[in-house]
Amino acid sequence: MKTEKELKELWIKFFTEHGFKRIPGYSIIPENDPTVLFTTAGMHPLVPYLLGEPHPYGNKIFDVQRCIRTNDIDSVGDNSHLTFFEMLGNWTLGSCNKREMIKLSFEFLTSSDYLNIPVNKLAVSVFAGDETAPKDEEAYNAWKDCGVKEIFYLNKEHNWWALGGGIGPCGPDSEMFYDTGKPKCCETCSPACDCGKYLEIWNDVFMQYLVKESGGKVEKLKHPNIDTGMGFERTIAVLNGVNSVYDFGCLRKVIEFINDKAKVKYEDSEKAVRSYRIITDHLRSSVFILGDERGVVPSNIGQGYILRRFIRRSINCARNIQFDCKYFSDIADIYVDEYGKEYADIDKNRNFIKDELQKEVEKFSKAIEEGHREFNKVILGIEKHKEFALKNGEIVDNVISGKSAFRLYDTFGFPIELTKELAFERGYKVDEEDFKIKFKEHQEKSRVASAGIFKGGLADSSRQSAFLHTATHLLLAALQKKYGFDVKQRGSNITPERLRFDFNLDHKMTPQEIKEIEDFVNNAIQQEIPVKCEVMSIEEAKESGAEGIFTNKYGEEVKVYTIGHISKEICGGPHADNTKELHHFKIIKEESSSSGIRRIKAILD
Ligand code: ALA
Repeated sequence: MKTEKELKELWIKFFTEHGFKRIPGYSIIPENDPTVLFTTAGMHPLVPYLLGEPHPYGNKIFDVQRCIRTNDIDSVGDNSHLTFFEMLGNWTLGSCNKREMIKLSFEFLTSSDYLNIPVNKLAVSVFAGDETAPKDEEAYNAWKDCGVKEIFYLNKEHNWWALGGGIGPCGPDSEMFYDTGKPKCCETCSPACDCGKYLEIWNDVFMQYLVKESGGKVEKLKHPNIDTGMGFERTIAVLNGVNSVYDFGCLRKVIEFINDKAKVKYEDSEKAVRSYRIITDHLRSSVFILGDERGVVPSNIGQGYILRRFIRRSINCARNIQFDCKYFSDIADIYVDEYGKEYADIDKNRNFIKDELQKEVEKFSKAIEEGHREFNKVILGIEKHKEFALKNGEIVDNVISGKSAFRLYDTFGFPIELTKELAFERGYKVDEEDFKIKFKEHQEKSRVASAGIFKGGLADSSRQSAFLHTATHLLLAALQKKYGFDVKQRGSNITPERLRFDFNLDHKMTPQEIKEIEDFVNNAIQQEIPVKCEVMSIEEAKESGAEGIFTNKYGEEVKVYTIGHISKEICGGPHADNTKELHHFKIIKEESSSSGIRRIKAILD
């Protein structure tokens, strides 16, 4: 038995003793990264360092990182999948000694001073090799020498790690599993078959390769690295001998809270179990998104859309188990009490989180009953048509049209994913292509800017983006000069084409104000000011008056970028070397982002 606190302490102790330095975890919402909506793994904010930029803490680092992944959202409700989880990560930058890392992993997992997992309960997988990279015999032999008996060679689908979108540093990995003791599902049962016998708890990625562009070829990385990530909730479940991540600690507490109030009880049916777990998981993710300093609220684009999906899906699940959504705020309290000490922003934003949850509940609760009635009508309509068609010898599929799905979305606020889920439960499919067409038509009609719903992934670390990072710092400096230092960054997103910057301001900027800001930035560009980077402690950075979010409790050293007397900001970089590289700055749009928050889009031309 180990508590959550104990597991984190052991992680910190082990890697500190082995010469690694703890780095602060990052925000759940990536800064300056257009490729993904949320931080999906500990390595994600570290990409510049994995590509060779020196890290201010040196080349052996570790952390505890909050992550959100939505790719497994349909599996949430089973024993092990979550949309929010904490990842215990560690990195070796600039070298890739597999044997050494495997030895460390083995020691942490099995040593009686640490996790004390019996060797015979461990299974591992290694890369089987293909045309991109050879069979990973080195990793295989390292595990064999540790005494692990169950070692599986698996293919790229299972044992290759790359960022979503497939661009960036990547390589073969070696995953570690806990054997739950379930019987083998078949003769060839392995961690690849997902039958639940093997539970993945940790992954050592050997980042020896790089893909530079979408569909590009795999090249050797000049600075190979090791990137590892341990699933915190799964490991804590294993250490406590429970079958699911919901059976221990804070998640268990939330399940019990719901069970106390809901009419349908936790284990009444499989559907009830799933509904309880979805509410428990999705509300935790929502608390972390709402609690983030970036101030994301439910909306129809980007992160706000995912947040809306989480909350609305929870409302639908609450309907399944007859649980009153007014208790969502009590669940938020349970999470803030649990995580607030470690994640100061969650604590600070407790009331904001609860208010926003409540607002979304009020908005959707009214529509959901009508939406369900509408949904039933749609199904009835299809059934009638089917009856008729079958009589005439026609074959019809159980498909809900894009038009109906769009009406459910537009009039009743049903996220398309929710409609798909309800359809699936009734044996129906949704014509998603048609839905997209209807959605786009509507978008064009209402001139809504690009919606983040269908956002794909594209990693980017080009020079152009570096220049836009520098332009972003100049922009903030210009805004503060004009409106005062209370103006703060509330969001930033950079693609190679443009920057997007959110900040607090209580009015729409006039054309004159926009011009003044542009002039200020262009003036700084013309002055050809060098951009200086220094590494300093977070306290020194604070004292020096650097801009930045100082919420990381464990932050020790940070990079501070200074542009003459104009700007001083904590930032991971990379940046231009001199402002002259930016040529010319132009604001192409100024609009409202949410209440009290303005959004600027700007380009360098
Ligand atoms: N980046 C690796 C993962 O998330 C460690 O599995």
